[in-house]
Amino acid sequence: MEKLVIEGGKPLSGTIRIHGAKNAALPILAASIMAEGTHVLENIPDLLDIHVMLDILRALGCKAELRGDKVTLNTSPIYSSHIPQELMKQMRSSVFLMGPLLARFGTVQIYQPGGCAIGERKINLHLQGLQALGAVVEEKGNTILCRTERLKGADIVLDFPSVGATENIMMAAVMAEGTTRIFNAAREPEIVDLQNYLIAMGAKMIGAGTDTITIEGVSKLQPVSYKVISDRIVTGTLMCAAAATRGSVTLENANPAHLTSVIHVLKRAGVQVVSQGDVIQVTCPARPKAVERVVTSPHPGFPTDLQPQMMVLLALADGISIIKETIFDGRFKHVEELSRMGADIHVDLSSAFIRGVPRLYGATVESTDLRAGAALVIAGLAARGTTVVEEVHHIDRGYDRIEVMLGKLGANISRCPSLSRKTLLS
Ligand code: EPZ
Repeated sequence: MEKLVIEGGKPLSGTIRIHGAKNAALPILAASIMAEGTHVLENIPDLLDIHVMLDILRALGCKAELRGDKVTLNTSPIYSSHIPQELMKQMRSSVFLMGPLLARFGTVQIYQPGGCAIGERKINLHLQGLQALGAVVEEKGNTILCRTERLKGADIVLDFPSVGATENIMMAAVMAEGTTRIFNAAREPEIVDLQNYLIAMGAKMIGAGTDTITIEGVSKLQPVSYKVISDRIVTGTLMCAAAATRGSVTLENANPAHLTSVIHVLKRAGVQVVSQGDVIQVTCPARPKAVERVVTSPHPGFPTDLQPQMMVLLALADGISIIKETIFDGRFKHVEELSRMGADIHVDLSSAFIRGVPRLYGATVESTDLRAGAALVIAGLAARGTTVVEEVHHIDRGYDRIEVMLGKLGANISRCPSLSRKTLLS
């Protein structure tokens, strides 16, 4: 395992280009299965989760190659719709493959993805949506087998605007017979990107980005070339890092329209945010101000994936802030680690009460999931002294070499091998 060693206290400054969006690339890679032939996908980030998805596609028979930020896929040789369990365990987002495999082969076998560090990650909405389209779902132990003679369009109402369930149902419906309408659909920008890719392949659909998506089934899709959107969560992470270190940073290849709720909170905290086209400038000349209440909610609300990072900024603010997490039932594991760096945060059920402190102090801390890990890195950048962030592989799932990104902004950060307990004791 590896760790990051950070000498804190230095304001970030400079310019960085944002890489492609993990949460757009993953469903798009899955959707490529539905059109036989060669796809060329650009602006694909070089991340652990992307490599796992490419390994799964290869295990199904696909030819897949990542060169720089371009993926070339030949989906013609795919012969299997059984996702290997060991790969499924590495990344729960492999659940996105259900819709495409069902659409192409009429059958798919996956394994219960199980929970993770941020809470229970059920897939009941995915399964209910696929059943509404005519799939028969059999669960035996942790194995899930879906089969169908022919997917048929239907009206589907989601109990919760689940991102993954919306994407899985979209993909299963594009080649179903007849019309599908998804009500209470998730509205994230990554869903709009998936719709644009499906339409480029020949799908007939409208409504992504709103709460109702309408799809007219087609009989065939064509392979295409496509460029994925930039990563709004990486953008927001770097904005929080710039603010927490009282720096001044310019972010290129960004999309401010994807971050309106985040920019609103940053401005309430006294951070200067100026955007022009795909460039966002973030400056924080003085100690940030507390923000009375931040509530995570489905897009366009404040994104849960930036809750830990914003918490670090508010932990340094002048005053008391409250963050309420409404999406996941376990997304406060970073609080204990931040408290070890001097943060004054009290968690009561789904709310965190944050009393800002003038400074944080370096410590050895452990990442529990990718966004909590990113938050600990931000805390280390702002803290006085040395911070060691362990279990860096969590962070590598969503950030392409975070130490290189931050080093370009002047941070004193390096990646080192982590001596295992066995080595230390031997
Ligand atoms: C996507 O996960 C993202 N992942 C997550 O990003 C993100 O946090 C999440 O959406 C919310 O925005 C990818 O896109 C790969 P959900 P997903 O289905 O689709 C419950 C990151 O850091 N739920 O919207 O799994 C679920 O338990 C990751 O990049 C059901 O109850 O999220 C959770 O409480 C973390 N039944 C809530 O909905 C279901 O069938 C949100 O889940 C599905 C979900």
